[in-house]
Amino acid sequence: MSENRVFNFSAGPSMLPLEVLKDVQANLIDYKGTGESVMEMSHRSKEYKQIIDDAESNLRQLLGIPDNYKVLFLQGGGTLQFSMVPMNLLRNSKKADYVVTGSWSKKSEKEAEKFGDIKIAATSEDRNYSYVPKLTKEDFRKDADYVYICLNETIHGNHFEYIPDTGDIPLVCDMSSCILSEEIDVSKFGLIFAGAQKNIAPAGLTIVIVREDLIGFAADDCPVYLDYKTHAEKDSMYNTPNCWSIYVAGEVFKNLIAKGGLKAMHERNVKKADMLYDCIDASSIFTAAVEKGSRSLMNVDFVSGDPEMDKKFVAEARENGMINVNGHRSVGGMRASIFNAMPVEGVEKLVDFIKKFEEENK
Ligand SMILES: Cc1ncc(COP(=O)(O)O)c(C=O)c1O
Repeated sequence: MSENRVFNFSAGPSMLPLEVLKDVQANLIDYKGTGESVMEMSHRSKEYKQIIDDAESNLRQLLGIPDNYKVLFLQGGGTLQFSMVPMNLLRNSKKADYVVTGSWSKKSEKEAEKFGDIKIAATSEDRNYSYVPKLTKEDFRKDADYVYICLNETIHGNHFEYIPDTGDIPLVCDMSSCILSEEIDVSKFGLIFAGAQKNIAPAGLTIVIVREDLIGFAADDCPVYLDYKTHAEKDSMYNTPNCWSIYVAGEVFKNLIAKGGLKAMHERNVKKADMLYDCIDASSIFTAAVEKGSRSLMNVDFVSGDPEMDKKFVAEARENGMINVNGHRSVGGMRASIFNAMPVEGVEKLVDFIKKFEEENK
């Protein structure tokens, strides 16, 4: 890697492709001869309209988003979606079934309880979220307004290897930490949301992909910003959007297309994750926190079982140019987040470091 950049294994905000950073830098002060920065540009200008339209159409191309889905560029993070989803989608029975596979789906489920009759259809809390339960249609209430999953639990490091069949019940999915890391059949979902700060762009942007027939059910007293209809009707321009983050997102989408799209990205992600899990599985000091078959390609959790040893590992990794390898404060241990923009060399360096650390600490 060039310059004196470190390999940042943070779970978000996280690394962005170096080519994108350089391109954005080159256009920072004078965006393509306009004489102004995108940071200063009116969101209603024709230049900005081109930026947001291109971002949307490139995202549609990457994910193969069907025409009957709206793409919304919102603010408030993944966290605001924990409220907006129930506020908009509890539209008939006011019942929703949640699958709780880690901290993020648990938080979302707790928030939804404020708005309706929420049931935990399944959870893997019994074994510290080290696996993803296998679910069938029969696990969900037939009259539920939606079923909710978090495809990739960023803190616990697990990932659904399959998309649950919910029949006619819309499936809502938090893809904050795995969107654009793999190919996804969008038509299997009623609504997908993702915060940008892992695989897409700087923090402050949340992308919502929502099937059109699910828009328009918020209560009359729903705050205007929290109603999907507000944003769908105005193409994410009801109020000032996060112009900068949408611009960078658009550049990341172009970069992904140039690199071969999500199929190529997935192959690369599998390669990176396999290298790391193989090394951890072969280690006499470290163990992976998640069972095979449910392991995240993006967030690789591992522990030594000795908090002092973990601390030493994290500190020495930092000294060697690999930062933020510590696990989330709620679970401890280590977590290496290896999102799309983490170069293969970053993972190779971490693997070599794990082996060296093991030799020195046996
Ligand atoms: C899977 C998942 N969902 C939701 C969130 C919350 O996102 P935000 O901090 O953007 O509100 C996070 C944050 O890391 C996350 O990893």
